[in-house]
Amino acid sequence: MARVDVHSAKGSFRTPIVLASGPAGFGCDLARALDFRRIGALTTKTITHEPREGNPQPRIVDAPCGALNSIGLENPGVARFRSEVMPKIRALPTARIVSIAGRSADEVGKVAGALEGEPGVDWLELNLSCPNVRGETVADRPDAVSEYVRAVRAASSRPLLAKLSAGGGLVALADAALRAGADGLTLVNAVRGLRIDVETGKALLARATGGLCGPAILPIALAAVYEARRAFPEAFLVGTGGVVTARDAVEMLCAGANLVGVGFGVMADPAAVFGLAEGLERWLDARGVADVAEVVGAAHRGGWRVP
Ligand code: FUM
Repeated sequence: MARVDVHSAKGSFRTPIVLASGPAGFGCDLARALDFRRIGALTTKTITHEPREGNPQPRIVDAPCGALNSIGLENPGVARFRSEVMPKIRALPTARIVSIAGRSADEVGKVAGALEGEPGVDWLELNLSCPNVRGETVADRPDAVSEYVRAVRAASSRPLLAKLSAGGGLVALADAALRAGADGLTLVNAVRGLRIDVETGKALLARATGGLCGPAILPIALAAVYEARRAFPEAFLVGTGGVVTARDAVEMLCAGANLVGVGFGVMADPAAVFGLAEGLERWLDARGVADVAEVVGAAHRGGWRVP
């Protein structure tokens, strides 16, 4: 069988398939039916310092080849996350990436600081790019990216991923995050989108726009990962956006991702997501590839099967 374990300077993962932040919640419902040893990591729903109720309903609608969501960072706040959620997810047989966000650099620093002594927090993912909260998308300004990452870095010794959105200026934003102390990047967040009810002429989501996820954004996520890998050959990259099948995961790895995040797929068919690593192994075995590392970044080397 091909090797699918992934190793970085900051940690190891049993497989490259990780649950992206959002649809899996805190993983507790999935853990009742599915074996977390089959995934490389659970990324939690994003945690802020204070609890948040999120955006008004409706906040999820269908979209062609995906879904549009506007959850608005609903979460119990970091204190309840520690007391109620961490004891459950600490027991899961996989790595844990805790997603955090805040309205200011000071807030994200406080959240990271509150998690510093918490056993079982293997990585932090700083969500700089949620499309569903007013005035909090800092991922389009390198100075803000830098300020937020520095605040987390100052408060936490945990390996840190900065989650950015697709769009212009990606290399400058990624550079700001890495220089400020991020150990890697998660690319990309949901892409801002809108759907309208033609019978009423009103937006379908209560807050009008939301984040588009699902296969519709796979090529966008692939391009962002490809661009980041080209600019930062050594960076640790989590490619997320539109991956549903093992074949999609292979594409993401070839573009340059070290890990592959799956979000929409969890809403569509969680059991299939937990089978993706096996699908990846079969794909590698069928082609005589001994180690998944051989395909990572292959698109930058003229393909994985270079004579
Ligand atoms: O609205 C949400 O909770 C989603 C956040 C995100 O895409 O980062």
